[in-house]
Amino acid sequence: MFVVNDVMVGVFHVGGKFFALDNRCPHAGASLAGGIFEGDTIRCRIHHWRFCVRDGKYLDEDNARWNARTFPVRVVGEDVQVEL
Ligand code: FES
Repeated sequence: MFVVNDVMVGVFHVGGKFFALDNRCPHAGASLAGGIFEGDTIRCRIHHWRFCVRDGKYLDEDNARWNARTFPVRVVGEDVQVEL
């Protein structure tokens, strides 16, 4: 988890690519970066909701209201940059 311009951002590395999500779980604000990471899925530790780290989609039901916010990521040299 990183703080970018006062926003907590969870950065995940999947298949050689980086993805960034708002670190606050859309359900009740727990740290997504502190969740359980499997494949391209992060499972929140508090109530176990699951999100795709590639696009922030809430995976436990088809309801975009609960999708996690995502941010564009680029790699420049050895730096991972997140655009808010
Ligand atoms: S706070 Fe993440 S699932 Fe409830």
